[in-house]
Amino acid sequence: MTQSRLADEFRARLEALLADAKTAGVLEDLRPVLEEVLRIVPVAADPSAIPRRFGMIGDSPPMRQVFALLEKVAASDVAVLIQGETGTGKELVAKALHEYGSRKKKPFLAENCAAVPADLLESELFGHKRGSFTGAVVDRDGHFVAADGGTVFLDEIGDMPLAMQSKLLRVLQEGEVRPVGSNKVIKVDVRIVAATNKDLKAMTKVGTFREDLYFRLNVITIQLPPLRERKGDVRHLVRYLLQKVGKEMGRDAELSEEALQLLERWRWPGNVRELDNEIRRAVALTPGVIGPKDLSPAIQKGV
Ligand SMILES: Nc1ncnc2c1ncn2[C@@H]1O[C@H](COP(=O)(O)OP(=O)(O)OP(=O)(O)O)[C@@H](O)[C@H]1O
Ligand SMILES: [Mg+2]
Repeated sequence: MTQSRLADEFRARLEALLADAKTAGVLEDLRPVLEEVLRIVPVAADPSAIPRRFGMIGDSPPMRQVFALLEKVAASDVAVLIQGETGTGKELVAKALHEYGSRKKKPFLAENCAAVPADLLESELFGHKRGSFTGAVVDRDGHFVAADGGTVFLDEIGDMPLAMQSKLLRVLQEGEVRPVGSNKVIKVDVRIVAATNKDLKAMTKVGTFREDLYFRLNVITIQLPPLRERKGDVRHLVRYLLQKVGKEMGRDAELSEEALQLLERWRWPGNVRELDNEIRRAVALTPGVIGPKDLSPAIQKGV
């Protein structure tokens, strides 16, 4: 049994004994010592102990709300808008909506609306006819046609240019697309999931996002909480990441309880992605158990 599994088992048994009325009384005197032992044993990576739903780690109250909503809406066809800061897991939620819904056997096609120039975006989403612009040498289906029966994920929707917003609105209203350079429309059956880290509602007030489109996309909103508002999940994510990164690097990855406490205290402006990077960095640089001094200087200092 590895050191981490042993630590996990010790922790689990001790927690059970402390929770049991019969033994808790006897153990009460020992509680300060036991708690100190628990503080210094490494945080282990027993996969069965990591709470996970819809392929996502977490069981804090805000994440439970997210899971409850996912449970309700995954099976339906309603448009979902996923909002949240960078690195909070918006893309994971979009994929979960598809994977756990009735369209899972059909395609899931994603488009990053911030990364593609406006004119190309139209062709990416709606397709084009040969010769409709320089470089259009063959007819090409857009995502809305190629994903027929499946899901189109519009990532960074807040960056979609206004002209494109109007065209998208028409597709949503009429259920059909017109490829660039074509005079025929094509009926489409896709579920739309959109995500953004911008405040779309505020954008509608200043005219940078169409209000009518906002209402179409936002039948249901899933708001992903920042990691600093669900600090209880840091522990679970750390265990999951230690296991994942350890496997990738071909060795046991362990972290001390003291180091974990520093991670739990950090404000995580880059959310789960930042935590992933931090664990990767620490595992790469540390041969043994990761301690406080193996963490990034800012996290060690907590500022
Ligand atoms: N609850 C979670 N459980 C496990 N991994 C997670 C969770 N949330 C996020 N991640 C991981 O964190 C990273 C960032 O997640 P994702 O790309 O979904 O975030 P995002 O909200 O789309 O970020 P951005 O706004 O920067 O695009 C990914 O590696 C993802 O797998
Ligand atoms: Mg993303």
